[in-house]
Amino acid sequence: MSGTAGTVSVAGALYAGRVIGHRGACARAPENTLASIRRAALDGAAMVEVDVKLTAEGRPVLFHDDRLERTTDGHGPVASATLDMLGALDAGAWFGPEFAGETIPTLEEAVETILGLDLGVNLEIKPCRGREAETARVVAQVVNAMWPDDRPPPLLSSFSRESLAVARDTAPDVPRALIADDLPGDWREAALILGLKAVHLGPAVTGADIATVRSGGHSIAVWTVNDPARAAAVLAQGAQAVFSDDPRVVIRGLNDR
Ligand code: G3P
Ligand code: MG
Repeated sequence: MSGTAGTVSVAGALYAGRVIGHRGACARAPENTLASIRRAALDGAAMVEVDVKLTAEGRPVLFHDDRLERTTDGHGPVASATLDMLGALDAGAWFGPEFAGETIPTLEEAVETILGLDLGVNLEIKPCRGREAETARVVAQVVNAMWPDDRPPPLLSSFSRESLAVARDTAPDVPRALIADDLPGDWREAALILGLKAVHLGPAVTGADIATVRSGGHSIAVWTVNDPARAAAVLAQGAQAVFSDDPRVVIRGLNDR
């Protein structure tokens, strides 16, 4: 029931498909834009990952970096910019002239697009320093307010354990994953405390890591895998999904094997 905390259904698998479009399809369209989400869907991804952080006034937007320079024509920290300021920026021209005019989406706009495309989604809570709790609370509140009963819930993830704890308390039934470069030595305790369904590990993941996570009854997805052979290897080792910048290439490569 939308708008009521803790009522999002958790039935079904965490991952829609084996290949999750990373920041949309960030090798083929400007990351974390609606164009990138649409590109991922057109390229065959059944699920996308996007990064969420807050504007100066606390509105959730899709954005990866702490600063604006790399992926927009703006300057300075995202956390100092209001939604109006961010809305005036070009978030597409840096990637290619055909994307000029693409803007930074609000989380709400992104969710509408994702639901409209029938995609699964992993919302990565990506707080600027000091905003770990606030960012998670806002993301979880948007999920509580917007998610339809009859759709699989999003998967919330973060490198920040503080964010995951707030997500747990704000939207307890929405599944959560801890992101880490390498499998943390205390991951089992973290999984228990934070009520994790999954761990998302970086490129150095080993078969032993995957087996360990799976043996604990948890799911695992691996970022960022752009080589189909590497994707096939980690999937064969028991990972349930990979995050790919170019899902088209990885899906085709897996299908051809
Ligand atoms: O969620 C997996 C991956 O996106 C984490 O790294 O820096 O690409 O957000 P990053
Ligand atoms: Mg991310």
